[in-house]
Amino acid sequence: MDAELRQIEAETLGEIEAARGDREALQALQVRVLGRKGLLTQRLRAIALLPPEKRPEAGREANRVKERLLAAFAAALRACEEAAPASGRLDVTLPGRMEPRGRLHPITRVTEEICAIFSRMGFERVEGPEVETDYYNFEALNIPKNHPARDMQDTFFVSADVVLRTHTSPLQVRTMERRRPPVRVIAPGRVFRRDSDQTHTPMFHQVEGLWVDEGVSFGDLKGTLTAFVQRMFDEETRLRFRPSFFPFTEPSAEVDILCVICRGAGCRVCKGTGWLEILGSGMVHPAVFENVGYDPARVSGFAFGLGVERVAMLKYGIDDLRRFFENDLRFLSQF
Ligand code: DAH
Repeated sequence: MDAELRQIEAETLGEIEAARGDREALQALQVRVLGRKGLLTQRLRAIALLPPEKRPEAGREANRVKERLLAAFAAALRACEEAAPASGRLDVTLPGRMEPRGRLHPITRVTEEICAIFSRMGFERVEGPEVETDYYNFEALNIPKNHPARDMQDTFFVSADVVLRTHTSPLQVRTMERRRPPVRVIAPGRVFRRDSDQTHTPMFHQVEGLWVDEGVSFGDLKGTLTAFVQRMFDEETRLRFRPSFFPFTEPSAEVDILCVICRGAGCRVCKGTGWLEILGSGMVHPAVFENVGYDPARVSGFAFGLGVERVAMLKYGIDDLRRFFENDLRFLSQF
């Protein structure tokens, strides 16, 4: 038999043995020997150049070697497959991939917390439309057309009589129209104003509160808001009621809390004053009661409107309002 053929056979069988278990090495070797330009393939082609009488014998020999090697490759590759099936190669020591889990936005969390505190005091949660009529947003709240108070709220108009609500106060009117006193509701929601800078965004959140019954007094307003603030922050948080003006309340008060950062010493957050304004409030104006068919001689009540972003910033020590709306997961995933 052809010595060269025998050498190819012996060497290849040796190399298959050496590459045992290494699928890639075996495949490369198979190409090198049996591929289109492989060693053995070239030998088979060379048979055509032999004198005709020698061709049958040489062909038989070469084919026998080829069969043998093919069988050896097949067996070696099958062994690899059995040791580590391609589809199920599994590293059981690999740590699992955690499902990324969403979480509630800080504004949502604070809104829920505010509502929970009031709900424990007997307030029921209500909601209303963000696209609101001029009547509910202004008129019924004792803010007639051309009233200077309309300038306090840069309004987005949808049409002459339809606006994006500039505050949650329309919920006072919508609620009282539908219910008879006593009424005790809390109304969270988005509000919109044409305003955009470091401390203002065109959309922000408020929580409106309303308590109407016979004999509700300014003392109830103070007591309710004090209880709320001390639960939201802590027992040490003092409140200050400052006389103010809103067309839908009389008297009106803005409420400041002792700066939760510096405790009154004066810092950057409270601009050195030691106090932070967190809400507007007051006793419901008789004109508003008349607009909803309540008798101002018989019932009284208080209302307040609270800025949710403001509370969230103080609660979590966030100094830039815009963080809430950038949707940066590195920021949001901290809560
Ligand atoms: N609606 C007012 C605003 O957005 C806040 C407010 C003030 C609400 C006094 C009230 C209130 O209910 O009594 O500026």
